[in-house]
Amino acid sequence: MVSYDEMYAHVERHVDALKTNKTGDERETYAEVFDRQTLMVLYDYMTRGHIDMIHYPVSTGKEGNVFYATDEDGEGVAVKIFRTSTSTFKRVSKYIEGDPRFKGLTGNRRKLIYAWTNKEFRNLDRYCEAGIPVPEPIAFRKNVLLMEYIGDETGPAPQLKDVAMDDPTAMYDDVVSFIIDGYRDAHLVHGDLSEYNILVWDGEPIMIDCGQAMTADHFNAKEFLMRDIGNINRFFRNRGADIIDPETILAETLKPADDDDLEESEEDYEEEEEDE
Ligand SMILES: Nc1ncnc2c1ncn2[C@@H]1O[C@H](COP(=O)(O)OP(=O)(O)O)[C@@H](O)[C@H]1O
Ligand SMILES: [Mg+2]
Repeated sequence: MVSYDEMYAHVERHVDALKTNKTGDERETYAEVFDRQTLMVLYDYMTRGHIDMIHYPVSTGKEGNVFYATDEDGEGVAVKIFRTSTSTFKRVSKYIEGDPRFKGLTGNRRKLIYAWTNKEFRNLDRYCEAGIPVPEPIAFRKNVLLMEYIGDETGPAPQLKDVAMDDPTAMYDDVVSFIIDGYRDAHLVHGDLSEYNILVWDGEPIMIDCGQAMTADHFNAKEFLMRDIGNINRFFRNRGADIIDPETILAETLKPADDDDLEESEEDYEEEEEDE
């Protein structure tokens, strides 16, 4: 067993943000993200080769940060670290209320955030299985999710909102297919789909931020589905794409499937960790 100090020293050498040349402000920001538990998880990923270096943050949000890292082979990895703070808890709670998979966890902040991390991993996995372009999930543990990094060493792929499109209608059709196929093939509704949660790489859209995605049988699924359609139509209408009527998209999405082999039972998210 390594001591906490040894562990910390190791992680510090492999996380740019923790190095002592940072200004006071930066260090303070990171002190909250890299709490003791999180450092231990990162150390664990480092000893397993999933992470070699954490280079820089690509996003610092209220609920979590995303970092660009490389693994032992030098491949890019996106490290999404959820804060275990009250604000994350509040946002997450509204999606989890009434979801049987989270039964018994709603009173425990840490466990709930861990379950949320697990949920994003599974949602990504499910979208991948269905052939919908999302970052490939690599691992999750506690509040830290590892996934394929979309971008290169010079920076992450831009968000759709910042991309100039040659053919907005073609891009729109792709994104609409994420909604329809996401529902029909992955049995999921994204629930927060917008020009912020789609990255564009090599001219192709990739859906991200799938933590809140809910299964199609969730009591709010239809409402979130309509909201996703509305957001996407609003954005692409402003960009001059040929928009499909929301009712038509909805009907196509909800059309009964020929095969029902995706009717899997809902798993329990409680206290699970990957490859244990
Ligand atoms: N796999 C990834 N590869 C590259 N950049 C990413 C990846 N995942 C997230 N990002 C970047 O981080 C930002 C925040 O990630 P997101 O998952 O949307 O979390 P949130 O919006 O909840 O903070 C994204 O808008 C994107 O710029
Ligand atoms: Mg987002």
